[in-house]
Amino acid sequence: MAVSSEEFRAALSRFASGVTVVTSVDGDGRPHGITVSAFCSVSLEPPLVLVCIEKLAGSHASIVGSGRFSVNLLSSGQQLISERFASLEADKFRDVPTATGLSGLPLIEGSLASLECEVHQAVDAGDHSIFIGEVLFARGDGEDPLLYFLGGYRSLVQG
Ligand SMILES: Cc1cc2nc3c(=O)[nH]c(=O)nc-3n(C[C@H](O)[C@H](O)[C@H](O)COP(=O)(O)O)c2cc1C
Repeated sequence: MAVSSEEFRAALSRFASGVTVVTSVDGDGRPHGITVSAFCSVSLEPPLVLVCIEKLAGSHASIVGSGRFSVNLLSSGQQLISERFASLEADKFRDVPTATGLSGLPLIEGSLASLECEVHQAVDAGDHSIFIGEVLFARGDGEDPLLYFLGGYRSLVQG
């Protein structure tokens, strides 16, 4: 018997994760961004990470077309940025401080870490694609991540 969608969601929502914003730039030079918790390190040599992106998301075609994406690991003060990039707003980057990375991708300022990736492999996976990226550039500092658990935002720091 197949798992029901309620059972599936109830189980998955109990996986505590960090929160990332994945950015990319399409063929017209337009930036795209999407909030993503399905991020994982894959390999040290070569340095590989993966993100799972819904096929219907605006970022999906942009990543397929450009073959590049950045992953920005959000800090605890960036809940509004997570909400913005999970929204349907037309201009998700409005008033969001960004810098241009070494590969030309927009990076979210104030994030704990940013990784700039070239698509190494794209795997078809149901209603999502798994993009495995080779990390070309990476930076990381800061210690207070934004967390997501049971449908809500959390912090390691007890308030
Ligand atoms: C905490 C959080 C985690 C999310 N993780 C993912 C994810 O891993 N993959 C994904 O495709 N969408 C994820 N989403 C949903 C997308 O951010 C959301 O559907 C977004 O609006 C899609 O972008 P679009 O407007 O370009 O279609 C997540 C949303 C939230 C709030």
